[in-house]
Amino acid sequence: MRVVRSISAMQRLARQWQRGGARIGFVPTMGYLHEGHLSLVREARTRVSHSGKVVVSIYVNPMQFAPTEDLSRYPRDLKRDLANCRKLGVNAVFVPSDTAMYPGRAEGNYSTYVVEETLAGRMEGASRPTHFRGVTTVVAKLFNIVLPDIAVFGAKDWQQAAIIKRMVSDLNFPVKIIVAPTVRETDGVAMSSRNKYLVGNLRPQAVVLSHSIKLARELVKASAKPVSAVRLNTTVAKIVSAAPDARLDYVEFFDPETLLPQKQVTRGSHMALAVFVGKTRLIDNGRL
Ligand code: PAF
Repeated sequence: MRVVRSISAMQRLARQWQRGGARIGFVPTMGYLHEGHLSLVREARTRVSHSGKVVVSIYVNPMQFAPTEDLSRYPRDLKRDLANCRKLGVNAVFVPSDTAMYPGRAEGNYSTYVVEETLAGRMEGASRPTHFRGVTTVVAKLFNIVLPDIAVFGAKDWQQAAIIKRMVSDLNFPVKIIVAPTVRETDGVAMSSRNKYLVGNLRPQAVVLSHSIKLARELVKASAKPVSAVRLNTTVAKIVSAAPDARLDYVEFFDPETLLPQKQVTRGSHMALAVFVGKTRLIDNGRL
């Protein structure tokens, strides 16, 4: 397994692989890999088969964090991440520095961004206004560096995946986007690097997100008619407020493809929510 730190070296390697006829499967991550990330790596391997190459990037992208967010304390463990990638037969791990990715940014000499203007405004985008601009910019850059044929994203970041798909379609990136299912802990909590922040009695309270989705699903399933989003909203607010350290940021019911909000919720509608558990902001989503 190669550990590649420079952009030109990664591009050279990708071009060399392409000349040899290998397909490249790519999993972009911010590291601190958990079973959810590893399932994306396995998916990438399956898609490109053994003749293909799998690349994982590990880069905590400062551009997608607001100044008030957790950039400096975001969990990192490169040694363990590399060991996990090696075990899964990853061909290259791309680990760039901030100065390689954004030369001149610290001095104000970076001024080109990729902005998706329709899907990025609501839900996560409403709570974190500069977040998706950072995500689309870094993912576009990573696609230009890793030159993948396919890229795998987790369904846990449903809105992110929808925005990336739109970016790829609008800007003609020659890459197929695969969205792989969310991996959950045994109690239903979606795996996330930020779960590390949930110490003591906070961790058990994180189940309010998956419980909310499960209950909303049951209500929709049991009803012969569409269920109003207002009613489901009230139900979710009750579940969340029953946990002493949890605070609902938003819950939305929407069409899974267009992300357009739905006032009447039926089976096949999608639900997403963000909840602060203590100071940690968690997200989850699911099909109803
Ligand atoms: O989902 C993530 O971990 C990040 O948003 C991504 C796609 C790696 C971009 O930094």
